Amino acid sequence: MRVIITKDYNQMSRTAALIIAKQVRSKPSTVLGLATGSTPLGTYKELVRMHKKERLDFSNVRTFNLDEYFRLDPSHPQSYHTFMFENLFNGINLKPENISIPDGMAENVEGFCTEYERRIKLAGGLDLQLLGIGRDGHVGFNEPGSSLGSRTRLKTLAEETVRDNARFFGDKKEVPRLAITMGVGTIMEARKLVLLASGQGKANAVMKSIEGPVTAQVTASALQLHPSVTVVTDQKAASMLRHRRYYLYVEKMAEEYEAEAGI
Ligand code: GLP
Repeated sequence: MRVIITKDYNQMSRTAALIIAKQVRSKPSTVLGLATGSTPLGTYKELVRMHKKERLDFSNVRTFNLDEYFRLDPSHPQSYHTFMFENLFNGINLKPENISIPDGMAENVEGFCTEYERRIKLAGGLDLQLLGIGRDGHVGFNEPGSSLGSRTRLKTLAEETVRDNARFFGDKKEVPRLAITMGVGTIMEARKLVLLASGQGKANAVMKSIEGPVTAQVTASALQLHPSVTVVTDQKAASMLRHRRYYLYVEKMAEEYEAEAGI
């Protein structure tokens, strides 16, 4: 696991965007797994800038979103559909037919979830999955207690998550209580994982996920079992990490090595 501790939110966003851009440039038909929430906003902004100013090309990229609220119309201002189009898709040259977001309005939810998994497989699997983290350590909407082998399914949101997301809906009562989410098992099959975390409010979740035991009570801790994970945090989100100085030292060594090798 690589842990990159950046100075602040902007540097975290820039670092994550560079990782994604490198992936897309090295494999133009990359299959990207995408996340929502306030954390990846800066990353998406930077990707849009790179597309406009540096010709970062998404024309052959396919995307799969992690999750979507259940029974929230895609046109709702707080749906993850709206979020993705407003914050990323409208600013880059992805083909609409290459975009997949869970359908929260699906009549046959189980059938839809099975089909979503099948579509990911058909696309060749996720090359890189971007993740945020909830304050309870969840990834996607895999709340505490989610099986670490879980697949795409309907999930009940934890009380804390409903409270956290109320800031987007104005009123807690408006927040959907259910969501369709990729499972932890689905996420773990991506070839690379990039987890973003920003702010003091995430420090405990980050510490438990990276340095705590692997447990279904903190679903992001499953990432410890993945062979290719990069965690990008700002200083506040990293503030509770016991081995913080070591992670900084490792990155400094890598930089020196790369400079020497002319990479
Ligand atoms: C929701 C999303 C997660 C996201 C989390 C944190 O629960 N389903 O994918 O990581 O919120 O959101 P934020 O980045 O706004 O803190």
